[in-house]
Amino acid sequence: MYDRGKIIIGLVIFVLLVTIPVWYNRGTTRTAPELVKPTNANSCVLPVEEMRAKHMQLLNTWRDEVVRTSDNSSIVIEGKAYPKSLQLNCMECHTSKVNFCDKCHDYSSVRPYCWDCHIAPVE
Ligand code: HEC
Ligand code: HEC
Ligand code: HEC
Repeated sequence: MYDRGKIIIGLVIFVLLVTIPVWYNRGTTRTAPELVKPTNANSCVLPVEEMRAKHMQLLNTWRDEVVRTSDNSSIVIEGKAYPKSLQLNCMECHTSKVNFCDKCHDYSSVRPYCWDCHIAPVE
């Protein structure tokens, strides 16, 4: 009634087809970029997960506060005060734009235009 041989061959073909994505991508998946982290501080403006997800919104909020409502209040990290600024805040600790910001942005295909005007650290 049942043809065992054909069922087994069918199953083998099925399993191979279903696992094609695994075989096909073997060794080609991209690994996350190696970021050069600051050595002069242990923590960022916000917890790392939040920074990863929200640093763009944070920078926009700061810019609006400083430029539009003249709110220049400082951000205190580990007892040290930093102004709400791209250059005088982020880049004070993340001194390498190339090995930090750019590495992750290149990986994620993001091209922030901020550096058209703001000065990047000299590297
Ligand atoms: C006081 C120093 C300091 C300042 C100022 C600072 N950072 Fe950080 N940042 C750090 C440190 C230290 C880490 C790594 C923390 C860790 O790995 O636990 C970090 C981590 C990050 C990460 C996460 C990286 C990862 O591992 O994925 C992002 C994104 C980031 N910072 C962006 C910014 C931006 C944008 C600004 C400005 C708004 C900024 N940082 C300001 C010290 C700073
Ligand atoms: C861990 C990875 C990572 C690191 C490190 C990182 N970024 Fe980003 N950044 C992103 C991603 C992903 C986006 C795009 C997010 C989106 O489009 O929602 C982004 C977007 C931005 C934007 C908004 C760009 C736009 O066109 O909307 C700015 C500004 C920015 N990053 C600044 C920085 C600065 C400054 C640093 C270094 C201090 C930095 N980022 C480090 C991942 C990172
Ligand atoms: C067309 C030029 C230009 C571009 C592009 C630009 N900015 Fe600015 N930004 C300015 C000017 C001008 C000021 C006001 C500086 C002042 O008042 O001292 C400013 C102020 C700021 C401030 C507040 C104070 C300071 O000195 O940092 C932040 C934060 C900021 N910009 C972030 C950004 C971010 C993030 C981007 C990219 C998403 C960006 N800017 C793109 C010109 C620019």
